[in-house]
Amino acid sequence: MNARLARLALTIVAAAFSVEAQPAREPRLPNVAVLATGGTIAGTGATSTTTVGYKAATVGVDALIAAVPELGKVAHVSGEQVFQIASENMTPAHWLLLAARVNELLAREDVAGAVITHGTDTLEETAYFLDLVVKSTKPVVLVGAMRPATALSADGPMNLYNAVVLAASPDAAGRGVMVCLNDQINAARDVTKTDTSSLETFRAPELGLLGVIEGGRPVFYRASTRLHTGATEFDVRNLQELPKVGIVLAYAGSGRVGIDAMIAAGVRGIVHAGTGNGSLSIDAKAALVEARSKGIVVVRASRIPGGAVARNGEADDDALDFVVADNLSPQKARVLLTLALTRTADTREIQRMFWRY
Ligand code: SIN
Repeated sequence: MNARLARLALTIVAAAFSVEAQPAREPRLPNVAVLATGGTIAGTGATSTTTVGYKAATVGVDALIAAVPELGKVAHVSGEQVFQIASENMTPAHWLLLAARVNELLAREDVAGAVITHGTDTLEETAYFLDLVVKSTKPVVLVGAMRPATALSADGPMNLYNAVVLAASPDAAGRGVMVCLNDQINAARDVTKTDTSSLETFRAPELGLLGVIEGGRPVFYRASTRLHTGATEFDVRNLQELPKVGIVLAYAGSGRVGIDAMIAAGVRGIVHAGTGNGSLSIDAKAALVEARSKGIVVVRASRIPGGAVARNGEADDDALDFVVADNLSPQKARVLLTLALTRTADTREIQRMFWRY
C-alpha cells in the first residue's frame, strides 16, 4: 500500500473509531449538514495515479469529513450517509428521498445549510430537482470530485471545504441550490458537466457562473432570475413516486423507434432532444403527434448545448399542442417536466412553467 492510500485508510479508521479526534466545539459556528450520496468524491483507486477505472462510492461520509479537519474552523459539520451509489444509478426515487431529508434538516432552526456530496455524472439533474423542491432559503450546495479520494491532487477535499464554506455563509442564502467545484459557484438550473475528465467541468457556458470561492469566502457576481426553492409551486413532501418521463435523442436516421418505445413504456411525458432548434424529422413528428393523442406531454428540446428552442419555430407547437424547453438541456427539461406533471397535464400551464423556472 502506498503512503497516500495508507493515509486514507488511517483516516477512515480514525473516523470510524475516534471521537477524541474531533476539534473542540466553537459555539458561534453555524451547523452544516453534509449528506453523502456516493460518487467519485467518495471513490477509491488501486494506486495514487488511478484516475480512471477506480471504484466510486466506497468511502463513507465520516471519513470524507475527517479527511478535512479544517472544516471544524468553518462550521459544526454533521454527516449523514443518505445512500452510497455512483450517480449513473441515481433515480427519481433517490431524488425524493434526498429532497425529503434536505427539507427536514433545513426546517430545523439549528441547521444553517446543507452540503450534498454527489457523483458528478448526474449531479446537475439532482441539483435542479432540489432547486425546484427545497422549501427553504438556507444554502444548499452540491459538490463532487473528478478524482477519487486516493488520487494525487484529489480535488474532493478542497471542493468539500469550499462547499461547507458556501453553505455556512449567510451571503449564500436565497440564491437557490448551488453547485460548487473547482472554486466556482454555479446555479443548479444553468450548470452542466462539460468535460468527461477535466477538473473544470461544471460550467454554465452561456449564462456564466454565480461567483467564486476566493480566500475562503464566497464572492458573488450575479443571481439567477428564474424562480427557485420556496418560490416554486412544486411540493414533493407527500409524494411517494414521480411521473415517468423519458428523453429521446434525435440523430440522422433515428426514425420513430425511440418514441414508440417510450409510448410502450407508459411514460406520461417525452422530452425530444431534437436536432438544431428542436427540429423534428417526418417520422419523429408523426410519432410525437401519436404520443400527444394518447395524452403524453411532448416537450421539444434540443441536443445543441447552447440557445433556446423557439416556440412555433421548427414545429407549429400551438397546433400540435407541444411545449418548448426554452434553453434547458434535455436532462434538465426532463426534471422540470417530471415536476410539472405532479401539478397538471395542461400543456399551457406546463409551457408557463418552462418560461418561469
Ligand atoms: C459518478 O457520477 O458517480 C461517477 C463520476 C463522478 O463522480 O465523477
